[in-house]
Order: sequence, then C-alpha cells, then structure tokens
Amino acid sequence: MATPIASDSRSTPSIRVLFVCLGNICRSPAAEAAFLHLVAEAGRHREFVADSAGTGAWHVGEPADGRMRQAAVRRGIEIRGVARQVTRTDFEDFDWILAMDASNLDTLHRMAPAARHARVRLFRDFDPDGRGRDVPDPYYGDMHGFDEVLDIVTRTARAFLAELTPPAA
Ligand code: 4NP
Repeated sequence: MATPIASDSRSTPSIRVLFVCLGNICRSPAAEAAFLHLVAEAGRHREFVADSAGTGAWHVGEPADGRMRQAAVRRGIEIRGVARQVTRTDFEDFDWILAMDASNLDTLHRMAPAARHARVRLFRDFDPDGRGRDVPDPYYGDMHGFDEVLDIVTRTARAFLAELTPPAA
C-alpha cells in the first residue's frame, strides 16, 4: 500500500518506515495513515516516507477494508493505496519495519536477510500504554475493534514520532 510522501533534495534525508500486519487491509494501513496524519499535522512531511505491507498475500491488490477506512475517515484520516506483500528488498529499502503483532514480527525475522539495513521491531514497543502488546486483529470482529485499532495506532505512532524527534537544542 504505497503512500510515500515526496521528498526533495534540499530537505533532510527521509526516514523510511514500513508498517506490517497479516493482510495489509486493516491494521498496517491504519498505522501508516495515522502516522502520516501526525507527520502532516507537524508540518514534517519532507522528513518521512511511509508504506505498509502484509506478511500474507490473500488481499494483494485490494484497497483497505471498508470498515477500517470508515472508522479512519470519522477521525479525518484517509487510508489510501492497495495491499501488497512484504519483500526481502524491504529490509534494504526501509529504516524501520514495525510489526503489528508478535506473529508478524516472527515472520519478518524468519524472512529477513542476514545482513539488513532495517531495524525490525514490534510497533507497540513504542506504545506508552501497552508496551510489547499486539495490535488486536479487528477483521472478524465488530466496528468497536476498528475504533480500538485507531486509538492504539494513533497513540503509538505519536510516541514513535516523538522517539525519532531529536531534542531541541
Ligand atoms: P490485518 O487484518 O492483518 O490487520 O490486515 C486481517 C485481514 C485479513 C485477514 C486477517 C487479518 N484474513 O484472514 O483474510
């Protein structure tokens, strides 16, 4: 689900972040969109490139789940793009690869090339209110689950962005 934000040669080099879940139609596109929303709010769009992908291939080429998009739009967050699967080159192309749950993280570690550029982490390791936990999979649940995902990914994306932000001089 490629939603890179354009960079230009005069700006600070971009930090490239890939969000990963199972299907790339619920959690990781929501995390990507929430992160980009916060980045845009902070006026820092030239500093970051974000994308998302799935460890599974079932939904490749599909837009994000309509329930996820609907929940996001209610908060003024637009989820764009279509699902794609993680590739081995992602480990070179991104600085951070952030897994939505422990199972996704396990898959990423198993497929990662021995020498890799990306730092591969569980996304919620950055969540001040749920460090080390999974982003719950909302796919088989009701709308409440999609709102909960947005609460979690927005809070965690905010904390992740703060972690990447150098302290003021
Ligand atoms: P996601 O949710 O990993 O957050 O995109 C899911 C989407 C689809 C399926 C499972 C989880 N599925 O089994 O098709």
